Amino acid sequence: MSIIVKEIKNLNHQELDECLSISKNLFGKKYHSRKYFSNENLLKLIAVKKNTVIGFFMVRQKSQNILIDCIGIRKKWQRKKVGSLLMEYFFKNIVESGHKVVVYAWKIDNLIPIHRLNLKFGMKKIKNLGMIWKEKCNHSFKCIQFEKSCNCECVLYST
Ligand SMILES: CC(C)(COP(=O)(O)OP(=O)(O)OC[C@H]1O[C@@H](n2cnc3c(N)ncnc32)[C@H](O)[C@@H]1OP(=O)(O)O)[C@@H](O)C(=O)NCCC(=O)NCCS
Repeated sequence: MSIIVKEIKNLNHQELDECLSISKNLFGKKYHSRKYFSNENLLKLIAVKKNTVIGFFMVRQKSQNILIDCIGIRKKWQRKKVGSLLMEYFFKNIVESGHKVVVYAWKIDNLIPIHRLNLKFGMKKIKNLGMIWKEKCNHSFKCIQFEKSCNCECVLYST
């Protein structure tokens, strides 16, 4: 059975649990809340295989700016083109001409996991914003990358 992309306003109970579990695994405990995945102002795309969510893609829109708020692919499904599938759907069905797409990417150990995906879909690196998450990191959520201090920088990309 192939992977399908669903555009969803309200995730059902199972989908919400699966998104939370992916987020906890990739980013850390409480990085995303149930409330975050229930927010009706966020457009949600999910990648589903055999009735199970294997990736999510959250979008926030502010007039002509459209922000990819977060993308997460379940670990065992990474590097299998699921992220590309979600991006393809997004650019084909959601982005309109005149929209500026913005991503705040995560840089860890000098690597930006979403870098190639961003370039592939026409986004360019604009600016390194530095350690903007330092104050919040490991306080309001348990960051998976935290060691003795915050380790992540934020890099801005846009079309
Ligand atoms: C980054 C992420 C969204 C990419 O999704 P994916 O389904 O693995 O990506 P794809 O298989 O479609 O690959 C797209 C490209 O990204 C590259 N890529 C994927 N994961 C990567 C990683 N961890 N590091 C570096 N490059 C990576 C692939 O090699 C591919 O490049 P290519 O087309 O030139 O060969 C996914 O790996 C993920 O969820 N990572 C953890 C969470 C994360 O970092 N989210 C982004 C927050 S800004």
